[in-house]
Amino acid sequence: SAPLVKLNNGLEIPAIGLGTWQSKSNEVTAAVEFALKEAGYRHIDCAWGYGNEKEVGDGIRASGVPRSDIFITSKLWGTYHSRVEECLDQTLANLGTDYLDLYLVHWPVPLNPKGNHPIFPLLPDGKRDVDHSWDLKDTWKQMEAMVQKGKVKSIGVSNFSQKKLDEILPTAEIIPVVNQLELHVYNPQHKLVEYLRSKDIVPEAYSPLGSAGSPLLSDETVLDIAKKHSLQAADVLVGYLLAKGMVVLPKSITPSRIASNLSGAVNASTKLESGDIEKLDGLAAAGKQKRFITPPWPVDLGFDHWPSL
Ligand code: A2P
Repeated sequence: SAPLVKLNNGLEIPAIGLGTWQSKSNEVTAAVEFALKEAGYRHIDCAWGYGNEKEVGDGIRASGVPRSDIFITSKLWGTYHSRVEECLDQTLANLGTDYLDLYLVHWPVPLNPKGNHPIFPLLPDGKRDVDHSWDLKDTWKQMEAMVQKGKVKSIGVSNFSQKKLDEILPTAEIIPVVNQLELHVYNPQHKLVEYLRSKDIVPEAYSPLGSAGSPLLSDETVLDIAKKHSLQAADVLVGYLLAKGMVVLPKSITPSRIASNLSGAVNASTKLESGDIEKLDGLAAAGKQKRFITPPWPVDLGFDHWPSL
């Protein structure tokens, strides 16, 4: 099983969780069931916005693993920043549980709740309909209220740059326990990660393998390190982030990969040497910097290496 990482509120989170973004509804139930029942996962990462939470919940129940043994994360969608409890209640019903271990603000981008689409409202010019009048501080207040009510144990954020974190931290009564970001060897975000560490916010890595069709798995340096330790490339990519004390969320619907993304990565994290980590740390700076996920929000999110939209 995965090691546990301590959060700033004293609770613990399993360092590897199963990612479920882009897992099709008809495939995710079996993936979640396998991860929990066969592969030893105790952490599932989902989101209202992925549109497959009901099927994730089916997998959790089918596994037979007690709810209290599982760490479940979900996320608040943009059209619900002013209605946090409403979105959370839908998620709880979807998953068939009465609490979450962790609830995240999915993006620091409030979307028009009365727009022309419940998930991706658009303006007449085709741009995403962002609710510029809504203050993120008020989103965070509502997130904090969910902890008070006992509906979630911990709260955090996702896709927040330092600039966006600085919009909520001065008035926050609860410091986010994590910030879930695109983090991998081609997009290590060293400066932001250092800032998170200074605030005792755990970095969580999504798309640790670079998402579907990624060149990371065939990177020469990654393959060299894998060969040296008799590991798979994916073991090195996930193990590297684990060794750095991050929480890692590899997505797969393939049983053999689900299994190795936990066992192989834990093994890799113990085998990687400081020289290996240094090489992997330096890949992006050596010209390989690349983001794979850049949603078309027409706002300045404050990230480095974010393509102009
Ligand atoms: P699949 O779900 O069909 O197994 P990320 O976690 O970076 O978003 O990457 C997910 C992508 O990588 C998916 O396309 C997934 O495919 C694939 N993948 C997951 N685990 C592995 C692995 N161990 N080796 C190769 N590809 C993998």
